[in-house]
Amino acid sequence: FISKEKFAEEVISEVISMGEDFGKSNVGQERPVIVEYSSPNIAKPFHIGHIRSTVIGASIAKIYDYLGFKVIRINHLGDYGTQFGKMIVAYRHWGNKQDVIEAPIKTLLSYYTKFHEEVEKDPSLDDEARATFTKLENGEKEETELWQWFRDESLKEFGRVYDMLGIKYDSYAGESFYSDKMPRFVKELEDKGLMEEDDGAMLVRLDDYGLTPALITKSDGSTLYITRDIAAAVYRKETYDFYKNIYVVASQQNLHFQQWIQILELMGYEWARSCIHVPFGLVSLEDGTMSTREGRVVFLEDVLNGAVDKTREIIKEKNPNASPEAVEEVAKAVGIGAVVFNELSNYRIKDYVFSWDHVLNFEGETGPYVQYTHARACSVLRNAGNDVIAKAKQGFDAGYLTSESAHALSMLLYSFPAVIEEAGEKYEPSIVTRHLIDIAQAFNKFYHDEHILTENEEEKVAKVAMVIAARAAIRNGLDILCMKAPEKM
Ligand code: ARG
Repeated sequence: FISKEKFAEEVISEVISMGEDFGKSNVGQERPVIVEYSSPNIAKPFHIGHIRSTVIGASIAKIYDYLGFKVIRINHLGDYGTQFGKMIVAYRHWGNKQDVIEAPIKTLLSYYTKFHEEVEKDPSLDDEARATFTKLENGEKEETELWQWFRDESLKEFGRVYDMLGIKYDSYAGESFYSDKMPRFVKELEDKGLMEEDDGAMLVRLDDYGLTPALITKSDGSTLYITRDIAAAVYRKETYDFYKNIYVVASQQNLHFQQWIQILELMGYEWARSCIHVPFGLVSLEDGTMSTREGRVVFLEDVLNGAVDKTREIIKEKNPNASPEAVEEVAKAVGIGAVVFNELSNYRIKDYVFSWDHVLNFEGETGPYVQYTHARACSVLRNAGNDVIAKAKQGFDAGYLTSESAHALSMLLYSFPAVIEEAGEKYEPSIVTRHLIDIAQAFNKFYHDEHILTENEEEKVAKVAMVIAARAAIRNGLDILCMKAPEKM
């Protein structure tokens, strides 16, 4: 049995005293946790498919912040590989500087496509590309400068999306960063007798673990994606001494992660299993999957801008007198939040179909609904006034908080920290999303059932205390989902 009064008193005063920190804990004891997420490929479109790693990863990083770990956010850019030889060759033959500056990704992508068309007619282009990549690998000046420029321009474009989402990184050490760090691992694999030669190429057999062989170097000696992942994991261990090294990467790469984590284990790194692949399902479009080549791709930037535009229209319609600055700020917070929330609503492993109608549907269990609930709580507090708020923070008579709707809300606030912990253990932000919807619904029920700003001063103070607590939980929940919590909508 539980005394509803005692329960409400303890929970709500605890939430109020923690304030901004409500939901945070010291489970992590400052241990370093790496979260690698987004990691797009340079000179390729940053499309709706990337939203998954970007948003799920950013939220997992936030969850680990809340749990008191020391989080290191890494973007393992796909900025290396033979395709850069092709791109440099294409640029030299058919390129134009101004085009790259104006629309880097679109232009670089067109060079890549052009290369593939032309190589059909003139196979020697392939040799030229290979030779060019070797020059790049050897650090020759001209090739390196071009590659660096392509990388910088691409990063500017990615940066615009990260800014919109409020995402920041501690490191952009991508694949190229490891290009000179690999010989050590190739040698180590050889010394430990793990490699086998196969037609000039070197590979590690993993039959004993039910996995296909992993190619470590090609016959021309060049390394592969997997080689760079092995180097990156060891580098991260040596640099950050991580407790966990989390990779938020699509489930299509399951085999790749199983292979290299197994190889690390065979190499004798006892921390191999602290490298954790957190997979997620596929996004598809309503009319089939995406295809860069056929132009069936939805750019992430367009999705975010589209959501902001649509939200702006709705606000203007409902609120014709709002100032343009206020409209703009809320449109950004709510439009982008709608996309993010939608992404974090499903279990990450589930495939889903991207639908504009669904993302921009502001009714039901959506981001705008939760943000609106937060704004409503803020409005109640504004109307209550600072005196009442100050009193509520000092103490309240929880005897007024025993109704069914008040108790339901207290229960949800009570379990919020445990929910965050569970979400961290399962690498599953949707657990927080679900709980946040529950809190918002319970708050709205409380708001409708109860007369909060009543004549009776003591009762009013107690109910305002409840609103302060609910508001703190909703704000921090939105923060964990990397969403803004506007005070007015
Ligand atoms: N750049 C890769 C891609 O877009 C994702 C990189 C994932 N991270 C890793 N450490 N392998 O497919």
